[in-house]
Amino acid sequence: MKRTNWNGTLRLSDVGKEVTLCGWVGTRRNLGSLLFIDLRDSTGYVQLVSDHPEDFPDVRNEYVIQAEGVVRKKDVPNPNLPTGEIEVYLHKITVLNKAVNPPFIIADKTDALEDTRLQYRYLDLRRPCLLNKLKIRAAIVKAWHEYFDGQGFLEVETPILNLSSPEGARDYLVPSRVHHGAFYALPQSPQLWKQLLMVGGVERYYQVAKCFRDEDLRADRQPEFTQLDEEVSFMDQDQILALNEGFLAKAFKDVLGVEIQLPLRRMKYWDAMDNYGSDKPDTRYGLLLHDLKPILARSPFQGFEGAEYIKGIVVPGVAKETSRKVLDALQIEARKFRLKGILSLKMEGGALSGSFLKFLDEAQQKELIEALELKDDDLILFASSSSRRDIDFGLGALRTLYAKQLGLIKPNTYDLLWVVDFPMFEPIEGEEGRYAAEHHPFTRPRDEDLPLLDTKPEEVLAYAYDIIINGYEAGGGTLRIYDHDIQWKIFNLLGLSDEEVARRFGWFIDAFQYGAPPHGGIAFGLDRLAMIMSGTDNIRDVEAFPKNLQAADPMSHAPSEVSEDQLEAVAIKVVEE
Ligand code: AMO
Repeated sequence: MKRTNWNGTLRLSDVGKEVTLCGWVGTRRNLGSLLFIDLRDSTGYVQLVSDHPEDFPDVRNEYVIQAEGVVRKKDVPNPNLPTGEIEVYLHKITVLNKAVNPPFIIADKTDALEDTRLQYRYLDLRRPCLLNKLKIRAAIVKAWHEYFDGQGFLEVETPILNLSSPEGARDYLVPSRVHHGAFYALPQSPQLWKQLLMVGGVERYYQVAKCFRDEDLRADRQPEFTQLDEEVSFMDQDQILALNEGFLAKAFKDVLGVEIQLPLRRMKYWDAMDNYGSDKPDTRYGLLLHDLKPILARSPFQGFEGAEYIKGIVVPGVAKETSRKVLDALQIEARKFRLKGILSLKMEGGALSGSFLKFLDEAQQKELIEALELKDDDLILFASSSSRRDIDFGLGALRTLYAKQLGLIKPNTYDLLWVVDFPMFEPIEGEEGRYAAEHHPFTRPRDEDLPLLDTKPEEVLAYAYDIIINGYEAGGGTLRIYDHDIQWKIFNLLGLSDEEVARRFGWFIDAFQYGAPPHGGIAFGLDRLAMIMSGTDNIRDVEAFPKNLQAADPMSHAPSEVSEDQLEAVAIKVVEE
């Protein structure tokens, strides 16, 4: 089929050329004596024009056509289109296929419901803004391949049908037809495989890896997502971070033309938590958390009795407009983070006001004003807790809420940093002395903290690092345990008996007895990187065929019931509730 040019690439330098174009009819205006058609293909739009509309077949929105004509300069350029300086004067239109009226208009701006867009995703994808996001995603993968190929990494595919070994989220299960009653699990990540590749002597592995996690969905989570996954032997943490910063700098340069200053900043986990109330801090704005215990612990307020932590944030310029109702709404927010409540004070006319004032003597008020450098119209929000994580996460959530509300986040700016020195374990809420792995159980505790495993596991820090971009966890990795006995002990500390460790992980840990090299790695969330680089806060915008928030596909209607025969083959009976 003849096609001489891509529509979106025509420029003034093409004036005078005879062209044959293909594409979809975007908008069409027939003014009687003049015909205008915006013809779209995967590169963009070009305007077709004729002063003899009667010479051409009647075409409607989304008809697929081939158009022949000559490129000429436009009298009045359209500054909104890259092709806006030219138009194509039509000689011929061939209709290649007709189209029924689409359920929504194919344009960047749309008010169609997301489920309607997902139901007709093939039409949604015709919107240039969506296609552009897929192009950005592909460009990131290209940069990834170029960079790691250049560093001697070998692309290896790992299995999708795996042994179930939950890594934090719930597994997606696949019943076995051959082994009735047995199930494969889809990989939450290729973690164990990539470590075994290191034991296998591959040394430098990378893969664009599909991962599956059955967890509650959010704006930045999909049940099925993609990791840019890698693992390397004989490198320490500094070397791994430097290697990966090189990739990030290349990706931002190649994809967006943005220069990233290296080396990237590093922030310790507890510094991030204490100051920003998050292990993925957005450092593009302030609103830092303050330790108020030295001042407020002396207050007779009963709620502070025995409180280990009293902290607060100062939100400037909102005190006057903050009503009781708004403060009540914040209580609900706070309770999501297990805080009993949020207290507040306002700064008005050079003095503090609010019902909490009765619990502060004059000296404390003065101290507070000085320590927090309070100004008129500042709102002070504070809370107490016995848990360092709870108070930090709770106030951190308020910090993010107000940053959005006050418009403190500059668009098109990129804030990249490593969060390092994560704790190895996280206490399990309500279960004294029980721990979960903060990253995953294969993370190596810092050498100097190994003795603490027996005495104070909660104080053990790990060789773990997350890459944070604009407040998103864009990737995370760790150095790994490569010692059989330490790995076994970590599982024990996570509550697994020797028998359980042997049964569930013996096949994996045994490999460490045969000469496992020191190794470590990282996985970037490709979807998250694509979201950040394409400026959307919706992960579904950067996947061609995503699931909705109910983990369903409104187009194909997956998941669906299956036939009795299929169920019988895998010996499964569905019981109606
Ligand atoms: P982790 O669980 O931190 O680490 O995942 C790595 C990165 O994957 C992305 N991610 C997700 N993206 C979209 N939807 C989801 N449901 C989702 N879950 C995670 C995040 C995250 O930072 N095996 C380890 C990596 C390693 O240690 O090398 C792992 O999977 O961007």
